Amino acid sequence: MLVLTLGTAAGGGVPQWNCACPGCSGARAHPDRRRSHDSLAVLGSGQSSWFLINAGPDITEQMEAHPELRPGAGGERTPLVRILLTDAELDHTLGLLRLREAHHLEIFATAPVRQALRQRLALDTVLTPYTSITWHDLPPAGQTPAVTAGIEVSAVPLSTKRPRYASDALEDDSWVVAARLHDPAGGTTALYAPALAVWTEGFAKEAAGADCVFVDGTFWDDEEPRRLGISARTSTGMGHLPVDGPGGTAGWLAELSARCLYTHLNNTNPLVDPSAPQHGVLAERGLEVAQDGMVIEL
Ligand code: MLT
Ligand code: MN
Ligand code: ZN
Repeated sequence: MLVLTLGTAAGGGVPQWNCACPGCSGARAHPDRRRSHDSLAVLGSGQSSWFLINAGPDITEQMEAHPELRPGAGGERTPLVRILLTDAELDHTLGLLRLREAHHLEIFATAPVRQALRQRLALDTVLTPYTSITWHDLPPAGQTPAVTAGIEVSAVPLSTKRPRYASDALEDDSWVVAARLHDPAGGTTALYAPALAVWTEGFAKEAAGADCVFVDGTFWDDEEPRRLGISARTSTGMGHLPVDGPGGTAGWLAELSARCLYTHLNNTNPLVDPSAPQHGVLAERGLEVAQDGMVIEL
């Protein structure tokens, strides 16, 4: 299986249009530090079509940036786009509207995520005059998985955190999930968890058996959002375990045999500066920070 990191930033991207923090200013001065919204493209062994995980507001530029995701020669348009969603947050779903030129969209998501997109964001009403949509369930890991483009896909339930536009919707632990991707031909497994609120037993078990794990790297430490004045809540309070410190994900990830990469970096995270000493701290533990445009072969 091939995994291509189309983007690695949290909501707003790096730089974020309305921000001049050191991370955002640094990315304006050094374009190689720019990060677009976190998203993956995945290709199964022996397959010819890619599918996407999450569709942020820059999804079409992200695909256009990679020749392997462009339509083939001969003037054929990409007839079908398959997208798997880890949650219903705007930074992972606004791009669905930008895919309206597709002939057909196949969307894999858990029940609460589908309901939020269909009932609250009225995606069927808005998109159906332009394209057609087939909604598929993303079953819990351990049950019979869905299969898309040759990859077995399932959901590891992570948290009940609902998007702000659906904050009054019913609680359900599959509002936010990790995507589990298993390539039966290659025998490899990847996990994608850009929003990890709790290190659950279920996630720990799946991570222990995975070859590659992408994890929430929104904030470096728990106080970062409060210290920088972007929220009254801690990182954990915002539904994102911090990388470092007590309860931070680095300690857990260092125990895994999988290749581990942080993604969904907020512009306040010191890791957006490649010269930050925090990179050394992670390297000592064998952990990586994902960059936009990495190709990982599993
Ligand atoms: C998150 O990652 O917590 C959400 O995307 C927050 C948001 O942008 O509303
Ligand atoms: Mn987000
Ligand atoms: Zn900023």
